[in-house]
Amino acid sequence: LQSGALQKLEPPARLSVFGDPVAHSKSPGFHNAALKACGIAAQYVKIHVTPDQAAEAFRALPAAGFLGTNVTIPHKAIALATVDEADEYARQSGAVNTVVVDGGKLLGFNTDGPGLVRALREEFFVDLRDLRVLLLGAGGGAGRAIAVQCAREGCERLVLANRTVEKARELATELSPYFRSDRLIGPAERIQAISLDESALRSQIEQVDLVINATSVGMKRSDPPVIPAHLLTANLLVYDTVYAAGRSRLLEDAQAAGARTANGMSMLLHQGALSFEIWFNRPAPIEAMRAALLSP
Ligand code: ATR
Repeated sequence: LQSGALQKLEPPARLSVFGDPVAHSKSPGFHNAALKACGIAAQYVKIHVTPDQAAEAFRALPAAGFLGTNVTIPHKAIALATVDEADEYARQSGAVNTVVVDGGKLLGFNTDGPGLVRALREEFFVDLRDLRVLLLGAGGGAGRAIAVQCAREGCERLVLANRTVEKARELATELSPYFRSDRLIGPAERIQAISLDESALRSQIEQVDLVINATSVGMKRSDPPVIPAHLLTANLLVYDTVYAAGRSRLLEDAQAAGARTANGMSMLLHQGALSFEIWFNRPAPIEAMRAALLSP
């Protein structure tokens, strides 16, 4: 954000994404396609905001004629701290990815978890609440948001696997009230924390339906696999939240094992569609957004 960049933007109404870096963001492309498809006279721009500018940039939104903004790395926590009110899921996940300007007030939401729910329905025809989930990477912001969503949906089982197992344990303890013994398996079985060690993964992977990767491991060819390929089996659903071009090592290994796979493009699309629905209180033109997202 160069000095006063927000103020320089003229009407019509603006939306934006704040990030650092932000140049690679695909949000302007598919949000502008949505605005056009709905005949809404607004423009969606990306704004480079550094951490020391973030709080001020959020507070500048109402006066600068913004309807709201999306928030990406690394500003989701400061967005939560800066908004006047945030919904319960955003507070629990410690992150806001969607800000609404409501009069002079800033309201915060997080559409990442609900976006994943829609993505899984679309990709695999499944509901998170019916599934036993192995979440790889429960230590970062993305992993936390997904774990909280799994808990709130009441998924059958949640295994939090993290390199630093202590972080997974803390999150499991925090989320344990969501996992009661009103099912065939007891609460201690329904939520567990493990390390990413092969032996720990091997003992759990036969008892899950869906593997979600929330680490960034595996995107570079030089990365080791986030989990050993031979642990992956044909009955698994494997979702990688990363959406960089091409397939991650995890998805390649999973496909080779015969598993059904999908990458984070659908989560990106649906979190954006949900932001649109929050801003405009109407269904998002999902196919227009998808076409824009998939166009080179
Ligand atoms: P974000 O907040 O964007 O999700 P992050 O804070 O970098 O990103 O966290 C990424 C997650 O990937 C964490 O769970 C991290 O594990 P730790 O909690 O042990 O740090 C995990 N991660 C990052 N690099 C990893 C690696 N080489 N092997 C295994 N897990 C890794």
